[in-house]
Amino acid sequence: MQIKHKTLFLTLIMLSCSLLLILWPHNRAALQSLYYKEVVRTKYVYTRPPPWSSSLPVIYAITPTYSRPVQKAELTRLAHTFLHVPNLHWIVVEDSNKTSPLVSHLLQSTRLNHTHLHVATPLKFKVRSGMKVKPPRGTLQRNLALQWLLQTYTANDSQQGVVYFADDDNTYSLQLFEEMRFTTKVSVWPVAFVGSLLYESPKVNSSGKVYGWRVLFDPQRPFAVDMAGFAVNLKLILTKPQASFKLTDVKPGYQESSLLSDLVSLSDLEPKASNCTKVLVWHTRTQNPLLRKNITGFADVIEEI
Ligand SMILES: *[C@@H]1O[C@H](CO)[C@@H](O)[C@H](O)[C@H]1NC(C)=O
Ligand SMILES: *[C@@H]1O[C@H](CO)[C@@H](O)[C@H](O)[C@H]1NC(C)=O
Ligand SMILES: *[C@@H]1O[C@H](CO)[C@@H](O)[C@H](O)[C@H]1NC(C)=O
Ligand SMILES: *[C@@H]1O[C@H](CO)[C@@H](O)[C@H](O)[C@H]1NC(C)=O
Ligand SMILES: *[C@@H]1O[C@H](CO)[C@@H](O)[C@H](O)[C@H]1NC(C)=O
Ligand SMILES: *[C@@H]1O[C@H](CO)[C@@H](O)[C@H](O)[C@H]1NC(C)=O
Repeated sequence: MQIKHKTLFLTLIMLSCSLLLILWPHNRAALQSLYYKEVVRTKYVYTRPPPWSSSLPVIYAITPTYSRPVQKAELTRLAHTFLHVPNLHWIVVEDSNKTSPLVSHLLQSTRLNHTHLHVATPLKFKVRSGMKVKPPRGTLQRNLALQWLLQTYTANDSQQGVVYFADDDNTYSLQLFEEMRFTTKVSVWPVAFVGSLLYESPKVNSSGKVYGWRVLFDPQRPFAVDMAGFAVNLKLILTKPQASFKLTDVKPGYQESSLLSDLVSLSDLEPKASNCTKVLVWHTRTQNPLLRKNITGFADVIEEI
């Protein structure tokens, strides 16, 4: 008898609570927003322009790119990262005689601030199978982007910024961009999956200064750092217009050194990512798909893949 009473009492309380929840106009709105929130949020993400602030230094992300089956996939992934980064200007440089519709369409659809350039690597500097010494990739493209910066800004501009070489085959933590944003000269940090190691890193001593490189491949390089492992203050680039990547007479692995030697010395380097104890960028690369060409009945009718 007592248990029956208790159950009845509890049921009544629950019923009245539910009624209150449904009938009370304020709560009804809350309930509705529970159902509609997902829809609203999805629309918001797809149309959101990244935030822009005139007081925050601009990150100039330079991406050399070339036509290949995974190009659009890689650039899409990169764009989605950049859409989360405030004040980012994307400089995309195609290795081609003219800009391609695929990259143009992709850039337009991201609504990111961007500059689209192109320069074709001469045949003799192209990487081909069977080459003994592979020429560096992306050199002319990165230099063209540096030229664009020199022509677009002057060292006297109030424009604050940082220049980063963001290849399209890496994975970037959003934190990385905030680490580099206030670079005074050149900042450095570890990069994962390069140089036959789980990660390469600058060596940082207890005074927080870079004194060498934790690398397997040629530790004697002046700047044994991967392209993804450093960023340069925009003003520094603008005050050193002769600084560039060298295409000829550069040993493998010396691309980064060839630019950085024009800009700074070891003691100028600013270690980021908690004194280089954190990995915020990974050289992941996307596997080349195995493709059979020219199979009857499988003509490629979609142009931009
Ligand atoms: C670009 O044009 C030059 C000369 O017109 C030609 O030799 C070269 O093969 C072209 N390169 C590409 C990537 O199309
Ligand atoms: C692009 O940059 C300009 C300033 O140069 C800024 O006003 C604008 O909001 C930016 N747009 C996007 C989509 O980031
Ligand atoms: C930059 O400023 C300096 C000193 O204020 C001046 O001498 C120089 O001509 C300026 N350069 C340009 C390109 O405006
Ligand atoms: C750290 O390195 C800097 C530059 O090489 C040097 O001046 C400083 O004395 C070093 N500090 C320690 C504690 O080793
Ligand atoms: C890096 O190391 C220096 C010297 O030990 C220290 O003063 C500084 O706070 C460290 N920075 C970070 C972000 O851990
Ligand atoms: C593709 O197939 C056509 C017709 O069978 C042939 O003429 C052409 O050479 C093939 N192309 C390639 C790249 O194999």
